[in-house]
Amino acid sequence: MQNNPIGIFDSGIGGLSIWKEIITLLPNENTIYLADSKNAPYGQKTKQEIIDLSVKNTDLLIKKGCKIIVVACNTATTNAIDFLRKNYTIPFIGIEPAIKPAALKTKTKKIGILATKGTLNSELFSNQAAEFSENIEIIEQIGEGLVPLIESGKINSIALDILLKKYLFNLIEKEIDYLVLGCSHYPFLIPQIKLIIGDKIKIIDSGEAVAKQVENILKQNNLLKIKTNLGNHKLFSNLNEQIIEQFIQKENCKINFLNF
Ligand code: DGL
Repeated sequence: MQNNPIGIFDSGIGGLSIWKEIITLLPNENTIYLADSKNAPYGQKTKQEIIDLSVKNTDLLIKKGCKIIVVACNTATTNAIDFLRKNYTIPFIGIEPAIKPAALKTKTKKIGILATKGTLNSELFSNQAAEFSENIEIIEQIGEGLVPLIESGKINSIALDILLKKYLFNLIEKEIDYLVLGCSHYPFLIPQIKLIIGDKIKIIDSGEAVAKQVENILKQNNLLKIKTNLGNHKLFSNLNEQIIEQFIQKENCKINFLNF
């Protein structure tokens, strides 16, 4: 089992931001990545729809022999991870908006969070936010429309710039000093975001922390890969596999279309 791959899924290419952190920290591990772009965005779907899609992705990763599953999607984590953990024995790692580090560091006592509607409306997020809301103000901003533009490769488009400015100006005027990226698609926008918010507002995303958590859980379960050769990576999209190539360097990677 140790030499089996780490399974990772997202509603599309967003989780590649997490995948990159995982293969950087654990270069020997093999991975299988599912980009469920056909069903993106998850952020506008009901909880039950998100659970059903997460089950479908999980079943496929288990069928492909994965030893652990990373839900590289805030929307799927906040809506479906409890269900997955209750119904499967394989270990799951999720990704949630990193409110805690922002809450501990903020000086203005105001932090902004940019995420999907599905994440911000979830019970898991509300509970997490409630833990900190006595001492700090958490300003929520739905990033509606950003994921479809990123999914279609329009990362440097005017349309994306207009949306991003609208959302970020809402947060800047509330005097936040930390911005939490609560969607795994958004780290691909960091260069544009920095141009808009400047360097007074710090950006926090969860990628590195998730990779460390993957390492810890693999260690705890005695699942770290034994062979010391460099890992290989299989990346599947059910819509447009070419888009994956725009976001990654291709060494040791096989990118394919798969109808799932
Ligand atoms: N990338 C996902 C997230 O982290 C989902 C985006 C979406 O499909 O709406 O929230």
